[in-house]
Amino acid sequence: MSEIRLYPDPILRQKSLPLEIIDSKAKEMIDDMARTMYLYKGIGLAASQIGILLRAIVVNSEYGLMQMINPEILESEGENAGEEGCLSLPDVEVNVTRGSKILIRGIDLDEKEMEFEASGLLARIFQHEIDHLEGKLIIDNLSKLKRDLIKSRLKKRGRMLNSDKTSCLV
Ligand code: NI
Repeated sequence: MSEIRLYPDPILRQKSLPLEIIDSKAKEMIDDMARTMYLYKGIGLAASQIGILLRAIVVNSEYGLMQMINPEILESEGENAGEEGCLSLPDVEVNVTRGSKILIRGIDLDEKEMEFEASGLLARIFQHEIDHLEGKLIIDNLSKLKRDLIKSRLKKRGRMLNSDKTSCLV
C-alpha cells in the first residue's frame, strides 16, 4: 500500500508520462494502486496520487476492478453535472460538468488494447482519473478564492493529522 498524496502536493499538478514498458515492476505498481484505492475506499485512483508520474489508472466500478495504462478519451458526447470528491482532497466536494458518454481506449496489464463506451458514473470516474494524469484537479472548477480557502484548510489539516510524518506536507 502507498500513501496518498494530498493537495497541495506539487506532484498532483504535474503531467504524467506514457507508461512504455509494462514489466513486472509496472504491474506491481498498478496492483499497489488498486490495493491503495480499496484501503481508502476510493472508486478510482491515478498513479500521480501515489507519487508516480506515469499514465496508469485504476477504477473500481459496478463492473469490477479495471486497471488501465495510457488511457485516452477518443470521443465525448453530451454533458452531465455532478458532485465529485477526490482522495487527494479530503472532505472537498465540487460540482463538475463532464461528458455524459465517452469512448475510452487504453491497454490492460497484459498489453491488450481495451476500447469501450462508458456513461454515467463510470464515464465520470474515467474523466476524473485522466484529468489527474494531466495535473488537473476538481478544484480547478472553482474560483481562485475558493481554491485558496481549500488550500489553507488542507495545509492545516495535514499538519494536524500527520504530526509524526512529513511526507504529505508541503
Ligand atoms: Ni481524484
